Amino acid sequence: MRYFNKKLVIVAALMATTGTAQAADVEVLHWWTSGGEAAALNVLKDDLANQDIGWNDMPVAGGGGESAMTVLRARVTAGDAPTAVQLLGFDILDWAAEGALANLDAVAAQEGWDAVVPPALQNFAKYDGHWISAPVNVHSTNWVWANKGILDDLSIDEPSSWEEFVAAMQKVQDSGKTALAHGGQAWQEATMFDGVVLSVGGVDFYRKAFIDLDPAALGSQQMVEAFNRMATLRSFVDDNFSGRDWNLASAMVINDEAAFQIMGDWAKGEFLNAGKVPDRDFLCFRVPGSAGAVSFNSDQFAMFNVSSPEAQAAQGEMARAIMSPTFQSAFNVVKGSVPARTDVPNDDFDACGKKGMTELAAASARGTLVGSMAHGHANRAAVKNAIYDVVTAHFNGEYDAETATEELVTAVDLAQ
Ligand code: GAL
Repeated sequence: MRYFNKKLVIVAALMATTGTAQAADVEVLHWWTSGGEAAALNVLKDDLANQDIGWNDMPVAGGGGESAMTVLRARVTAGDAPTAVQLLGFDILDWAAEGALANLDAVAAQEGWDAVVPPALQNFAKYDGHWISAPVNVHSTNWVWANKGILDDLSIDEPSSWEEFVAAMQKVQDSGKTALAHGGQAWQEATMFDGVVLSVGGVDFYRKAFIDLDPAALGSQQMVEAFNRMATLRSFVDDNFSGRDWNLASAMVINDEAAFQIMGDWAKGEFLNAGKVPDRDFLCFRVPGSAGAVSFNSDQFAMFNVSSPEAQAAQGEMARAIMSPTFQSAFNVVKGSVPARTDVPNDDFDACGKKGMTELAAASARGTLVGSMAHGHANRAAVKNAIYDVVTAHFNGEYDAETATEELVTAVDLAQ
């Protein structure tokens, strides 16, 4: 019980069984500020409102959550932690190790989370055998979002190999449209790098490089090839890519300005929010060369230690609501992700959502499900940020592929 306040655990357990404490508001820190993300967040807000749990919104804009994490650190340092916080992967475990998170064992036991949450998510939702967060979804990063109209006009088939993908982008560029919509921010380049590394060397190489941090893999010819592929992608983005937000890059594909975007399936939320329909207006497929592999990230809500019984009751109710099967379906249909439990029917999901669910289950069964480096599920933040720096410096022309590979080995070594 090193990291839990025993008294709080007992109070929470009592409330979970007797339901006596009145739930209060929850203050929720998150980075879901784009149109599609806000639409999904509304599903959660409404769900809680129906249970008389008030919502105190604490949005911190910035895809990938880097800015949100800076704000969170400041709030916790000031002794003013928000009640519930959107967190990813290793960040959850780090906050648990600091003793900042509440124990959710009571609600997890009541609701039977152990049996329905996939082990890959439990690895991040539990610390020392105790539940410390509630997973709301499973996203994955190795996706391409394509404008179907542009592809049809140019007679481009869905590419199935890297070479076909490059040829397709060339054709689009030759037509005068932007081939690749991209937002020049480190986390977006890292998100593309997840898929590119998988396309070069599959899950074995990905694991050795990003999860085992094996210097031989990090410094290999395959890594040089991965950087070469990033340089190829760089040659297909428009001149104004620097600093662009990811959802504005999605909008370029949505508005017929660009053909492709490599981005996690939160991009689908933008397409849906704009009234677009899979297979009619847009296509979703895995980064060519990475089919079969899934680099996942799961948004989870961790509850920070609070002392008032009402606030604790609200935390428990929020965790319970997040994990309900009907909510998991309703939320993920809008968000672009897939449910964080294995027993949710796919009936309400569109073609891309069904594909995502099938591929997640298959990758999990086949051992080709890997944590996203870019979204904090492969390694701790220090390592992730070190990789970001090298990838983004190379993308912006500071290093050639060989130098970037050498820099990557050094940066990862220093970050550990
Ligand atoms: C990811 C997060 C997604 C999405 C994306 C862009 O880190 O897991 O839910 O919000 O950032 O903001």
